[in-house]
Amino acid sequence: MISIKLYFLVGFILHAHGEHILIPDVPYGSHPEQIMDIYLPSSENSVVSKVVVLVHGGAWFSGEKADMLEFVPFLERDFPDYCIANMDYQLGTHESPGFPKQVDDLDLALTYLRGTFTNNVTFALFGTSAGAHLSMLYSYSRNVTDVKIIVSHVGPPDLTDPSYVGNPLYNGLFYNLVGPCLYAECPDLYNATSPLVYVNERSAKTIGFYGDFDLQVPSTQMPLLREKLGSFGVTNKFKVYQGGHGWNWSDADKEDLRVEITQFFNENW
Ligand SMILES: *[C@@H]1O[C@H](CO)[C@@H](O)[C@H](O)[C@H]1NC(C)=O
Ligand SMILES: *[C@@H]1O[C@H](CO)[C@@H](O)[C@H](O)[C@H]1NC(C)=O
Ligand SMILES: *[C@@H]1O[C@H](CO)[C@@H](O)[C@H](O)[C@H]1NC(C)=O
Ligand SMILES: *[C@@H]1O[C@H](CO)[C@@H](O)[C@H](O)[C@H]1NC(C)=O
Repeated sequence: MISIKLYFLVGFILHAHGEHILIPDVPYGSHPEQIMDIYLPSSENSVVSKVVVLVHGGAWFSGEKADMLEFVPFLERDFPDYCIANMDYQLGTHESPGFPKQVDDLDLALTYLRGTFTNNVTFALFGTSAGAHLSMLYSYSRNVTDVKIIVSHVGPPDLTDPSYVGNPLYNGLFYNLVGPCLYAECPDLYNATSPLVYVNERSAKTIGFYGDFDLQVPSTQMPLLREKLGSFGVTNKFKVYQGGHGWNWSDADKEDLRVEITQFFNENW
């Protein structure tokens, strides 16, 4: 495993994990929340060229990398030669909101991973909910050229959508991202944190999964993203399943999601 410098990190406990070896809680920054679990291919012959980064949800103020564990086994099975990194990031509060520190954490995590391999790697960012929002925001707004694929699992792309800002039920939902300020008072902040406004012809290919009865992500959101990606000629695919914010989808739909992701990676990355 000459391609991987991480093996010199002798302080970590290595666990065999299917086709991969798990190195838990690797720090990518100095804050205790800036850690990630890294799953390295266990084959001696593997030269890692692709890294899937998992980014958990939790409305920018909660959640942890363990929330993404349900997605690790199929990625390990279908992509034995890819590295998987499952990251935590600094949680947001009203006083210390997620923007921009969480976007910067994604950048720091990828910078760390880039430096981990002796050869150049490319990335897929696979986020759920707020994690999908952050993945899109980071990659679209900064034109991160080595991010090739985005997987948006119920990620909101447009925080200025009238479905959000016109509905008092959503007041406060974004305070842990932008600070305690309503859209009416801080429209620029809501615009600046909307991945949709940054989509351009260089944006990463995107696959998205949404629920038809999602109280956190209005049904207006996905079509806006699909149309904007399409208008710039960016490869995209979206699926809508029956159910809410990811949590009560059928087993058949969850399996379909895994099959679609594997196919999208194989065809586009
Ligand atoms: C890796 O990428 C850098 C920056 O794009 C480039 O200069 C370098 O030649 C690449 N290295 C390899 C081994 O392809
Ligand atoms: C990203 O690329 C688009 C299209 O080329 C460009 O308009 C935009 O300014 C770029 N943004 C950054 C941060 O480089
Ligand atoms: C929203 O932000 C984008 C990107 O910075 C900018 O191009 C656009 O003009 C902004 N829109 C509004 C309504 O402020
Ligand atoms: C998912 O939960 C929502 C909210 O309770 C409910 O209205 C909907 O019928 C559920 N959908 C499925 C497919 O179970």
